Amino acid sequence: MNEKCSIGMVGLGVMGRNLALNIADHGFPVAGFDTDPLKRAEATGNSGGERICVFPSLAGLTEALTVPRSVLLMVPAGPPVDAVIGQLLPLLGPGDCIIDGGNSFYKDTDLRSQAAGATGVAYLGVGISGGERGARTGPSIMPGGPLQAYETVRPIFEAIAAAVNREPCVGYLGPGSAGHYVKMVHNGIEYGLLQLIAESYDLLKRGLHLSDDELAATYAAWNETELSGYLLEITAAIFTERDDLTGERLIDVILDEARQKGTGKWTSQDAMDLQVPLPTVDAAVAARHLSMNKGDRLRVAQVIHGQERRFAGDRDLFLVNLRNALHAATIATFAQCMALLRTASKVYAYGLRLGEIARIWRGGCIIRTQVLEQIREAFKADPDIPNLLLHEELGAEVSRRRQALGWVADTAADLGIPAPAFMASLCYVDGCASPWLPANLIQAQRDYFGAHTYERTDTRGSFHTEWESGTNNHQEGGENVRPR
Ligand code: 3PG
Repeated sequence: MNEKCSIGMVGLGVMGRNLALNIADHGFPVAGFDTDPLKRAEATGNSGGERICVFPSLAGLTEALTVPRSVLLMVPAGPPVDAVIGQLLPLLGPGDCIIDGGNSFYKDTDLRSQAAGATGVAYLGVGISGGERGARTGPSIMPGGPLQAYETVRPIFEAIAAAVNREPCVGYLGPGSAGHYVKMVHNGIEYGLLQLIAESYDLLKRGLHLSDDELAATYAAWNETELSGYLLEITAAIFTERDDLTGERLIDVILDEARQKGTGKWTSQDAMDLQVPLPTVDAAVAARHLSMNKGDRLRVAQVIHGQERRFAGDRDLFLVNLRNALHAATIATFAQCMALLRTASKVYAYGLRLGEIARIWRGGCIIRTQVLEQIREAFKADPDIPNLLLHEELGAEVSRRRQALGWVADTAADLGIPAPAFMASLCYVDGCASPWLPANLIQAQRDYFGAHTYERTDTRGSFHTEWESGTNNHQEGGENVRPR
């Protein structure tokens, strides 16, 4: 290939190779590199005609690029990203751009962006969702970093992204680590939805004793409702898959210990730092941790005998309530995570447009669901809405299903089936809708044992009581005084 390439791709694993093929299919020549000769050979043998040129060195790759050069990294998050940047920076110059397309931690992206910026090289942190298939046929893309650098690669991203109603599922999100932050929260939502679906599976399997065929049919039917989305679609398909080794359903020979790469945990950690409640994601992360040591679970099961028993009531009611509970909990999960994005946007000065994020997530990504159409509409009507539960339509959707969510939590407890994400979602909804919470007692207790002060309902300022002698003191500016 004699013509210069539009973009470099470093990392030719499945994601990198599929993205390269997707880019090449759209008429942009790609220069590829991987440290692994086998991956280089695979990419060469599968190069989509003349449009992907694989180089044995980063120097070869950078020389093949049009100026300003754009190099997309699809390498594992963490030290490999720093290693590639270290080798790339001496080969690039002012105006060039490094794009990290992996699941990098957003604080790492800020540091890398500063380091690259000091050499005149722009740095884009770009979340890419859709898995291997999405990379090949159209992912959802969440770019952040310097706007000018984004403009250079915008035509490529818009061409390769998934499209919904002809709108590409990509859009500039904000400066610095905005793209990676949004991708992290996307994954937090993914953890919440995966856990909720897993709990519904548990209830259907152990509570109703549905067969794999019945499970497949149930999720396929649910996917025909207004709750439809990619995760329900693949869940239905999973129950029909047979294992090559045993001929049994594959799902039944998969070990029940969930692994993770950590993006859900980061989401929960950051939400804690920003004091935004994210109980469904927290519960999902903890549930993965709890699943991870089956040996311990088997031992505890010998000591504590749960109630586990079959549901004896109305099966149709069970199915309807469970679907409605899943619907309400899905909205509650988005409400929590959108509220996190709203706060993060202010604290980190990202300037996020939440409606734009909902738009980008409608296609290509793992969490795409019909519910995102309503969420997009909600932010269109009021871009500053503090919580999606305040939106008339979404609030009403949850309100209508609150009873079902409570019924599922009750039934799960009664059957001895753990449903932490359903319960967390229920408590989130009930907590958000509580005009009064028992936090006054916590304040009193804190003041009692630690003189931490409290505020009053009837007057401003912060107060301390000598609880044992019954003396009240008015204190201006105690440690917990909240600005009004
Ligand atoms: C990813 O981004 O790779 C996936 O969404 C899965 O993340 P996990 O391995 O932490 O579940």
